[in-house]
Amino acid sequence: MNIILLGPPGAGKGTQAKRLVERHGMRQLSTGDMLRAAVKAETPTGLRVKAVMEAGELVSDEIVSALISDELEAMGKDIGAIFDGYPRTAEQARSLDDILSAHGRKLDSVIELEVNEDALVERITGRFTCAKCGQGYHDKFERPKVEGVCDKCGSTEFKRRPDDNEETVRTRMAEYRAKTAPILPIYEARGIVSRVDGMADIDVVTAEIEKILGY
Ligand code: AP5
Ligand code: MG
Ligand code: ZN
Repeated sequence: MNIILLGPPGAGKGTQAKRLVERHGMRQLSTGDMLRAAVKAETPTGLRVKAVMEAGELVSDEIVSALISDELEAMGKDIGAIFDGYPRTAEQARSLDDILSAHGRKLDSVIELEVNEDALVERITGRFTCAKCGQGYHDKFERPKVEGVCDKCGSTEFKRRPDDNEETVRTRMAEYRAKTAPILPIYEARGIVSRVDGMADIDVVTAEIEKILGY
């Protein structure tokens, strides 16, 4: 099974993708995570995209499509892919079709997380992750069980994304509205789009997605 999780910044794409990975053995392919890893490792790609990401703008289609293609290449054919934050432009949507067919895969489902943009700024600016294992948390909605200690790995170090400030979030949202939301009709025409209320509780959203995917 190959699916796209679509939604604006903070809609819960990453949160839900991680749950599908844990429960159903799928693989999360997040171009945002891949780019952040490249920035951290100071690879040539990372050096090129750092400022663009910090400004909340989109990096080039070629760069992200190459990242996706490489990941799929390295993945077992029987493992389901969850595309998180990709595709984000009409050009990327076209590339994804080519990449999937080159790997003998097909797109089964596009799930749009419907959210109220006003609530997203709070979600994003409150978000932090474990510096060691990457587990995600939120100041208000998902605190660690023991203050300052990661539930999953016990680490006491956490980090926040440099693009998670209000000004950059507004730019990221504008990019979503201008370039990403317009790709939905491509998938609607294929009859594979489902919508989920992304404002519901995290568990409820997961249950809805599982229902759509037949789990
Ligand atoms: P990317 O990393 O993809 O960021 P994004 O799309 O802006 O989305 P986020 O990761 O911020 O949100 P999310 O939907 O994953 O939400 P989350 O689950 O964390 O991209 C970053 C940058 O990389 C881009 O700006 C661009 O520069 C570049 N880039 C990446 N891909 C690209 C591409 N394909 N092309 C070009 N450039 C690209 O949830 C947010 C918070 O809310 C969390 O704290 C969570 O705990 C909480 N939360 C989640 N669900 C709920 C809920 N139901 N109720 C309450 N709280 C919730
Ligand atoms: Mg994310
Ligand atoms: Zn951890």
